[in-house]
Amino acid sequence: MLNWDEVRIPNGNEGEVWKQFHQNTKQTDLHAMPSEEAVAVKMLQMFECFDDSRDAAVALDSGRDLLSDSLRNALERRKSFASRVRTPLDLRSLSCILRYAYGFKNRMANGRHARFVPSAGALYPLEIYVLASSVVGLDSGSYRYDVVKHALVPMQPGVSADKACSAFVQRKEASAASAIVVVSSVFERVVFKYGDRGYRYCLIEAGHVGQNIAIIASDIGVNCLNACGFYDEILDASFGFDGIYQSSIYAAILGAS
Ligand SMILES: Cc1cc2nc3c(=O)[nH]c(=O)nc-3n(C[C@H](O)[C@H](O)[C@H](O)COP(=O)(O)O)c2cc1C
Repeated sequence: MLNWDEVRIPNGNEGEVWKQFHQNTKQTDLHAMPSEEAVAVKMLQMFECFDDSRDAAVALDSGRDLLSDSLRNALERRKSFASRVRTPLDLRSLSCILRYAYGFKNRMANGRHARFVPSAGALYPLEIYVLASSVVGLDSGSYRYDVVKHALVPMQPGVSADKACSAFVQRKEASAASAIVVVSSVFERVVFKYGDRGYRYCLIEAGHVGQNIAIIASDIGVNCLNACGFYDEILDASFGFDGIYQSSIYAAILGAS
């Protein structure tokens, strides 16, 4: 049994551990994953979930009728899907996804903008970018999503679509996307307060955003593949992120369904 204290970093180095973790968990060509067969064998050996059911277990109702039809449908229809054939997305759909994924909801007492996802300390460390390849009403190119203005600001210099798509393990799907949303984090916005633990919060918050994107996409009939299968350094370099102060952490490959 591992003694967790043995993996504790000696006092004095806290606050920097997240950087080591982030750097050491970047996907590189050298990082070999087990084969599909090996994964299947391992999964057979593992329980799908804890199985300690006893007669006393409380059976639960689905609660299905408590949900609004639209939310239930969006949840039930959501599935990961990206096409290899490009189908143009309309700008309103993209705007809707961005607004309700991480756009502003209302002004807070401190003058900043509350969003549609929870955020530890309401610090909102994420910055959202869009690589648009086929969005009707939007020039193809790369953009930063300006939360406050709810607008797309063209990046200068622009991102090479070929280079950015080459960062994805599923390069064909990325290249055929109408748009790719890249969720990046500016970690300092959170770790200054929470230290290393704040790094976790950034990833968790990106998960909230990814889920909002997926549910909204499902609701409005857009195909969405939430993806972490990318070579971090290539994606970061193509967007001009240094990979530590700011780094890409999540992506959504979008296309009209
Ligand atoms: C953090 C995260 C990263 C993922 N990265 C990828 C990815 O790179 N490529 C991919 O095809 N699917 C990716 N997925 C999607 C999963 O493969 C998918 O959610 C899973 O197979 C369940 O299928 P469903 O989403 O259709 O219910 C990712 C999902 C999550 C939560």
